[in-house]
Amino acid sequence: MTAKKRTAILISGRGSNLQALIEAAADPAYSAQIALVLSNVADAPGLARAATAGIPTKTVSHRGHATRESFDGEIEKALRQDGIELVCLAGFMRVLSDTFVRNWEGRLINIHPSLLPAFKGLHVHRQVLDAGVRISGCTVHFVVPEIDSGAIIAQAAVPVFADDNEETLAARTLDAEHRLYPLALELLAGGRVALENGRARFTGMPANTGALFNPLA
Ligand code: GRF
Repeated sequence: MTAKKRTAILISGRGSNLQALIEAAADPAYSAQIALVLSNVADAPGLARAATAGIPTKTVSHRGHATRESFDGEIEKALRQDGIELVCLAGFMRVLSDTFVRNWEGRLINIHPSLLPAFKGLHVHRQVLDAGVRISGCTVHFVVPEIDSGAIIAQAAVPVFADDNEETLAARTLDAEHRLYPLALELLAGGRVALENGRARFTGMPANTGALFNPLA
């Protein structure tokens, strides 16, 4: 078996996606090892999840950094020190500088709780409900300097119900996120997806030929 890819997860809060990644990576056959959890918030609950799993943590506060570049420089240093090869953003609420994003091109991924390119930015579930779409979902994508853009690696769809509110839709979407992110990281760490000319290029991918209907067909 080839060596597991040393992966850092960047968080700012709850860390439920981090938890899903930790659990997936516990499988000896998983291609990524969660080698570091880094937060910009010292009391982010996700840090406790990492500690419980015996994963090293670091806090790099954005406060005290005059510029984005200086904050990112400290993150870069931490990642290098730990020999990190892949980076997953999982509820990391800071925008990374263009320099950082370019340094990690093809090795830096993010999860967003909508079917991108629809509903970028914040208050995603509010946007989804306001638009009245019947299907929403989540997306894992390569990170590029433009927010919530970048080549899409994987998506999962969830139905939107007439009586949904932001909380119920967020919970349904989050369940899908917890399945999607480990799948996407495995594809990247296992060399089954790579960024090529701004697109995700796959090798040996099983295709899902079924359709999701809402209302049910
Ligand atoms: C998730 O909904 C993710 O899609 C978004 O931020 C949220 C993070 O949740 N980017 P958690 O910290 O992983 O629980």
